[in-house]
Amino acid sequence: MPIGTTLTKFLLEEQRRYPDSTGNFTSLFSDLVIAGKILSREVNRAGLADILGATGDKNTHGEEVQKLDEFANSAIIRTMEHGGHLSAMASEEMEDIIKVDSKYPKGNYLLLFDPLDGSSNIDVNISVGTIFSIIKCDNGCDVSTKDFLQAGAEQVCAGYILYGSSTMLVYTTGHGVHGFTLDPSVGEFLLSHENIRIPEKGKIYSINEGNSRHWLPGTSMYIEKLKANEKGPSARYVGSLVADFHRNLLKGGIFLYPADKKSKNGKLRLLYEANPLSFIVEQAGGKSTTGDKRILDIVPDELHQRVPLIIGSKLDVEEAESFWKYQEAR
Ligand code: AHG
Ligand code: MN
Ligand code: MN
Repeated sequence: MPIGTTLTKFLLEEQRRYPDSTGNFTSLFSDLVIAGKILSREVNRAGLADILGATGDKNTHGEEVQKLDEFANSAIIRTMEHGGHLSAMASEEMEDIIKVDSKYPKGNYLLLFDPLDGSSNIDVNISVGTIFSIIKCDNGCDVSTKDFLQAGAEQVCAGYILYGSSTMLVYTTGHGVHGFTLDPSVGEFLLSHENIRIPEKGKIYSINEGNSRHWLPGTSMYIEKLKANEKGPSARYVGSLVADFHRNLLKGGIFLYPADKKSKNGKLRLLYEANPLSFIVEQAGGKSTTGDKRILDIVPDELHQRVPLIIGSKLDVEEAESFWKYQEAR
């Protein structure tokens, strides 16, 4: 489709390719797009609107909650709960699932989201984003936590909205990865990156080197190998997963948040971060693993489960994987 096609038109065209489609998904997705526009506006004016800084509370992971984390979380819930297509939601910021209130109709989709990824970067004007994942619940609408505990391979849609130098929405429904840029003058997301393919090999590696004293031997050996190569990759690490991932998706590269001596499951969350980005990377021709297991094959045990994540260009991830047999060496 031509560059500049509106997201609304793109979604309708996609829907028409599937004659059995009821339009429910398109309508659900359109609500999500509205949430994205609201958050884009708030992130852009955060410095003026007294929503910078921390709330003073800790979230379910023991991390400091930022005012914008809280705003984003409730804006998404408010925008999504009444559409009639969801039965429940799960948010990185909330301990339990959020069931759609009985005053609204329900549908068989479930939404999982990280309302604001990279939120420690908000106050310093560095890109942050919203990551989302949509799955189905087959047991009707009376859902419980266990309905959310599906392997990532079951996702019907995943994406993110990146609030960067411009706001971009990138998503997949399993038919390639498409990127749209928000044109603030018309208030619409316009097609800017159709059928994104991640280069098979990249020139960037992204890892928090500050953790190197905690690394397991395989991680240290792999990073040393990259550095020893004169023509080796450059390091780039913003500290917002969604921004680091997006750069590597477009330019090629590898992002690692491995298990280490301090965090035996890494830091990132399977359901809100690793699964959606893994669905996207695979659809773009890349790869995603814990080091020895495909992320999308993991059946979660709990809502807020953490997982080691190595994600990016196929050949780079495979090279990293070849070092993971040394992780146990000490
Ligand atoms: P969140 O802001 O949603 O809690 O996620 C923060 C995550 C992720 O965005 C980023 O890649 C990672 O934390 C950075 O962690 P370190 O500061 O430990 O490198
Ligand atoms: Mn996050
Ligand atoms: Mn977050």
